[in-house]
Amino acid sequence: MAKATFLFIHAAILALALWVSPSEGHDSNRTTDGSQTTNIYNYNVNIDLSGAFDRVYAFGGSGTDNGNARLMGGLQNFVGAWLRAVNGDLAVRDGVSDSDSNSEGGGASGDPSIVGNGLTNGELVIDHICHALGIPQVPPYKNQSSNFSNGANFALAGSTALPGSFLQKNNLLSLIWKTIPQTYELQLQWFNEFMQKLKSGAKPDMERALFWIGSVGARDFSRIHMASTFSAGWVTHNAIDHVHKLIQGMVKHGAKFFVVQGLPPIGCLPLDLILSPVSERDQFGCAARINKAVLNHNVLLQKKLGELQKLFPHCVFVYADVWKAFTKVLAAHHKFGFQEPFKACCGFGGGPLNFQIGHLCGTLHTSVCPKAAKHIIWDGIHLTAAMHKVLAKLLIHGRCTHPTIPNLIKFKKGLIHHLF
Ligand SMILES: *[C@@H]1O[C@H](CO)[C@@H](O)[C@H](O)[C@H]1NC(C)=O
Ligand SMILES: *[C@@H]1O[C@H](CO)[C@@H](O)[C@H](O)[C@H]1NC(C)=O
Ligand SMILES: *[C@@H]1O[C@H](CO)[C@@H](O)[C@H](O)[C@H]1NC(C)=O
Repeated sequence: MAKATFLFIHAAILALALWVSPSEGHDSNRTTDGSQTTNIYNYNVNIDLSGAFDRVYAFGGSGTDNGNARLMGGLQNFVGAWLRAVNGDLAVRDGVSDSDSNSEGGGASGDPSIVGNGLTNGELVIDHICHALGIPQVPPYKNQSSNFSNGANFALAGSTALPGSFLQKNNLLSLIWKTIPQTYELQLQWFNEFMQKLKSGAKPDMERALFWIGSVGARDFSRIHMASTFSAGWVTHNAIDHVHKLIQGMVKHGAKFFVVQGLPPIGCLPLDLILSPVSERDQFGCAARINKAVLNHNVLLQKKLGELQKLFPHCVFVYADVWKAFTKVLAAHHKFGFQEPFKACCGFGGGPLNFQIGHLCGTLHTSVCPKAAKHIIWDGIHLTAAMHKVLAKLLIHGRCTHPTIPNLIKFKKGLIHHLF
């Protein structure tokens, strides 16, 4: 009897702990290098994040695509090669398990040929968002045998905000994608197609759906290194136009709740570091011109979201400040458990970046570092699963969205009546 009572109390305490901090139950504040990570995320989650939304529809580029480009066969053959080469357990051993984690989906476990997007070593921000909201990870739209009852992921790696004809004419950088990249409009076409296929009786309740728009135009900022004939301002103009069109298209189907990511500091990726002059570095040691353009882009994107909020007052537009989250990590990377802020985990050549355009991750002679979780950068172009996890935590708990995700949930649950 006493034992039963003890177990009951134990279970109750555990349940309480999980309720207070839904996705942090297993985290300790120790890192292997001994530094304290207490409160780096500003945990103050006093609301159960699950139960507010039962669907997520995701859009965006490679940072959000959890399988579409791979399923379409659009990626270069070397992209998945590293996965096949390491017989499956590497991602689990070194990628996502930065603690004793086994409760957040575990990352790229099982057969590596059918898991993940092939562009990083585990789960993405969007996957963690789903876990936090208490719903299964939403499957890539291009896997038609998936169960889409909790939403779908329409994001496509390599998507461009620039006209394909322009990229073709200028022979612009398509390192990973086999052909001319697709524009973001394709994702809206997919979404329309998806909605049309649903029987009218089975139309999802859009009140219960969260629309997540990942960083739009990210890769285009890398592309502008390669052409002298167009400007960062033009990329921004096009990207924001695409965001506008995506949102309009979704609102037509009844979408109400949006989270829209800004751009991360793209100038901090090895690809952009090697393509820009060493004399042009910012306070983070990143490509200054690109990062300045990104900041400008993010200002204009927020302005656009303000306009959309006025245009569609029955909707909620949350800005996800990935720049803020990313630079928080850069400013104190050890605190977040990282040892290598710039060096690619999977690459070639060693040195501070371990990155060469002619030797991308998965090609002959490239190798994977022993501890991916200590790296922010996966392959010189994409982030590690560990960084995705940290960014997701900062977006969810770390006050890096406006309004905050906990407040969005409170609003959704009717616990507060104003968000702005
Ligand atoms: C975490 O931090 C708290 C407060 O600083 C401390 O009391 C606790 O012992 C730490 N836990 C671990 C596992 O280090
Ligand atoms: C597609 O989804 C099904 C059902 O979840 C899964 O069993 C299958 O492995 C997936 N296929 C690919 C190629 O990812
Ligand atoms: C799809 O998932 C939902 C909820 O997760 C479940 O209720 C339903 O039975 C699943 N459908 C199939 C065909 O497995």
